[in-house]
Amino acid sequence: MYDGFGRVYGSVWGPNIHYGYWENDADDSSVEVATDRLTDLMISGLDAQAGQRVLDIGCGIGHPARRLVRTSDVDVVGITISHIQAAEATEHTAEAGLSDRATFQYADAMDMPFPDGSFDAAWAFESMWHMPDRGQVLSEAARVLRPGGRLAVADVIQREPITPEGRVVLDHVCENYGVSSLGTVDEYRTALAANGFVDVEIRDITDNVIRTLGLMADAFETVRDKLADVVGKEQADSLIDFVRRFGSIPESGYVYLTAVRA
Ligand SMILES: C[S@@+](CC[C@H](N)C(=O)[O-])C[C@H]1O[C@@H](n2cnc3c(N)ncnc32)[C@H](O)[C@@H]1O
Repeated sequence: MYDGFGRVYGSVWGPNIHYGYWENDADDSSVEVATDRLTDLMISGLDAQAGQRVLDIGCGIGHPARRLVRTSDVDVVGITISHIQAAEATEHTAEAGLSDRATFQYADAMDMPFPDGSFDAAWAFESMWHMPDRGQVLSEAARVLRPGGRLAVADVIQREPITPEGRVVLDHVCENYGVSSLGTVDEYRTALAANGFVDVEIRDITDNVIRTLGLMADAFETVRDKLADVVGKEQADSLIDFVRRFGSIPESGYVYLTAVRA
């Protein structure tokens, strides 16, 4: 998906491949400001100290990682299952003069190519919804983090109960956006505890981020033809329609959490 229409996405949404965060309904911040603000929330939750080594699980093209390096003076290793993204992240990081602080590679978060205890902190920034087994990712995160290492997660989730319209939209999202399944707050709480994470703090920030989907549908409208060239007309039309519908059903949620590896 990220090697396909993901490239069109970047041209209309910018380098942050994630939702925006708005303080309240009156907040009219641009997408650029709001998406960086969600990165800043993750940076504050991670609370990484200068010189520490941080793992970025599902790094996109590395924009949040570069902001983290600049803000917290840490070294970052980013992983993604898109070869194109890993190459782009590496290139942009070289252009930014940060190649000695942030590196990116192709790797599957469910089978990480890193030794035990090799990171001081880790985040999974809107990447877990793509992964078939979130428990396995948390188990891998716990393995590669040192004891006391912090974890921050931002993720798209589903809220209960599921209505018939919600079911249609959620199924479409899972089938078409590379999403394995949508988790819930309860599932996260259970999976974190089962994988040795403590001091878990979970916030449902749906109200602050849900505006993203309407704005994203608007942005895709402006490049409907370009999108159709990549995925076909029917698929482009349905993508725009379902992004908008995903933003208007009460089942559509978003979680931000922090935890510590025991
Ligand atoms: C919504 S994007 C978020 C990108 C980035 N964190 C950001 O905020 O700009 C989801 C990312 O998760 C990555 N991803 C999905 N499944 C993965 C897996 N099994 N292992 C590693 N990365 C994965 C995708 O390649 C993509 O980079």
